[in-house]
Amino acid sequence: MRLQAQVRKWYCRPRSPVVDTRERCQLDTSRKSLLKALDREILPTPPVWMMRQAGRYLPEYMKTRARAGSFLNLCYTPELAAEVTLQPIRRFGFDAAILFADILLLPHALGCELDFPEGRGPQLSVVRNSEDLGRLASAGDIHRKLEPIYRTVRILRDALPGDVALIGFAGAPWTVATYMIAGRGTPGQEPAHAMLRENRPLFDQLMELLTDATIRYLEQQARAGAEVLKIFDSWSGSLAGGDGLFDRYCTRIHERIVKALSSSCPDVPVIGFPRGAGRHYRDYAARTGVPGLALDTDVDVDWAAKHLQTEACVQGNLDPRLMVTGGRKLVSETRRIVGAFSNGPHIFNLGHGITPDGDPDNVLRMLETVRETRMCR
Ligand code: CP3
Repeated sequence: MRLQAQVRKWYCRPRSPVVDTRERCQLDTSRKSLLKALDREILPTPPVWMMRQAGRYLPEYMKTRARAGSFLNLCYTPELAAEVTLQPIRRFGFDAAILFADILLLPHALGCELDFPEGRGPQLSVVRNSEDLGRLASAGDIHRKLEPIYRTVRILRDALPGDVALIGFAGAPWTVATYMIAGRGTPGQEPAHAMLRENRPLFDQLMELLTDATIRYLEQQARAGAEVLKIFDSWSGSLAGGDGLFDRYCTRIHERIVKALSSSCPDVPVIGFPRGAGRHYRDYAARTGVPGLALDTDVDVDWAAKHLQTEACVQGNLDPRLMVTGGRKLVSETRRIVGAFSNGPHIFNLGHGITPDGDPDNVLRMLETVRETRMCR
């Protein structure tokens, strides 16, 4: 009975109606704009933030990272992690801040070794067999190891300007598993696909363990003060063939995470990022019920306005390369995206993270362009 009631609660959670506030066309500061958009309000100007907005393209980030000594020290030193989270807010005035951390801190807390050697990308100890998995399963209290991250969240909630929302995040189980199985980033995520083919029970156990840990990690971020939670499935595109893998290891797993969170933290909306989902985006949105749907650069905005924006507040999807090249194309593409999504809830963002060669002047240009296009009725 209790379980039935619980299930009903998850499935019956009402979706807010779309509210169009454009006729007011004045600054309503009663609530953070990011939260309004995720609650399906159509705003005169979409809120803006940027994936990887804290990072190597900013000289102030490089300075703080040098002070920390290493990327991992930076992640685990709350005062410094909070400082780099705030840097892009101070410089650009984004509408949201994303907690500075990394998706690989969760496997680290589960007992994987992790290192970010200069210029080589992440290196981890690998999960190959049930003994490796057994060690992770008996890792003990992950929250003790992740406590510095929660402390960063608490510092940020006090330090952020009143109109800036704080986003917490985790990697999706598939994307995190691709690093744990290979011990590094891999083109096509081949080692993870090999385990899927050759040892499905072991792979499924790893996904179970990660799904459970991800839920607990995100819940704890919300308790510490994260106002929005984002799930990064950066490599879900390699599941997107026609063989049911996308549904099983991306959509259904995200669905479980979203449902668990909507029960334990009902006031904290989730943004799902099934990068490279392609034709699966529609089913993903419908099935998971995510309030926010992050779109990668390949998604056609007119198609998305018609088929996805009806399901969720869409987020995206400017090509991050334009942050390097800039020019008239940056302005025209920004306007095109804002225009295409102007009749539904939208958060402006890139289709993936800004790269270290991104130019801060182009970021400013993008922001000015988004904010000058006020869609008053
Ligand atoms: O500003 C923000 O977006 C918040 C911080 C953040 C980082 N990583 C900091 C970081 C977030 C949200 C992430 C997520 C992340 N980490 C993802 C998913 C998003 C995506 O970009 O697809 C993935 C796949 C990772 C794993 C990871 N971390 C890789 C592959 C690398 C090396 C790549 C690189 O750029 O060198 C990292 C390191 C990392 N995480 C950096 C930053 C700022 C660069 C570290 C440095 O040299 O300073």
